[in-house]
Amino acid sequence: MKHIVVIVGSPRKGGNTDLLADALIAGALAVGNTVDKISVAEEHIAGCLGCNACRRDGKNHCVQHDDMDDVYARMAKADVLVFATPVYFYGVSSQLKCLIDRLHNPIRNTFQVKKLALLSVCADTLPTVFDSIKTMYALTLSYFSLEDGGMVCVHGVEARGAIGGNPALKKAEELGRSL
Ligand SMILES: Cc1cc2nc3c(=O)[nH]c(=O)nc-3n(C[C@H](O)[C@H](O)[C@H](O)COP(=O)(O)O)c2cc1C
Repeated sequence: MKHIVVIVGSPRKGGNTDLLADALIAGALAVGNTVDKISVAEEHIAGCLGCNACRRDGKNHCVQHDDMDDVYARMAKADVLVFATPVYFYGVSSQLKCLIDRLHNPIRNTFQVKKLALLSVCADTLPTVFDSIKTMYALTLSYFSLEDGGMVCVHGVEARGAIGGNPALKKAEELGRSL
């Protein structure tokens, strides 16, 4: 049994990222894992200030005290992390990027996470739309020495809920079972 922390990076609640994440979560729970879903739509997380105070104080404290305090505590319990994001201008959402940048804090060296997986959705049908997110994902795996848990990237979904009935939901559920 694993503890899986799913970070949903869309500010649109009930949107395509949310639904894809819920499919993964259903699969993960069905095989006995525990899941904690963190939605950026409910959190207030400012961007990293680049002050590097977290690297100097010896206690890994970020000088900013916002909802990231709680996110650090929840991420620290994860065996597996899942980043779920809409494509925003060929990258991850700015809300998710703020959270990821705050992992600059060496507190993340105290985390037990071993594996990362990726979910992403976009409106376009261009085959290259996910390229920069996939590159960022691959480099993040390498930087944090994490195992690749797999990914589901879904083209052609724009309106809220457009992903309904998409075979990708089944793929996400299977990914959740495999974590
Ligand atoms: C600010 C913004 C930027 C976007 N940029 C892209 C993009 O570069 N390529 C693309 O295919 N879709 C883009 N989209 C569309 C979203 O990725 C798409 O609607 C997705 O399904 C939204 O997911 P959500 O329902 O979880 O919010 C963008 C949407 C927004 C709001």
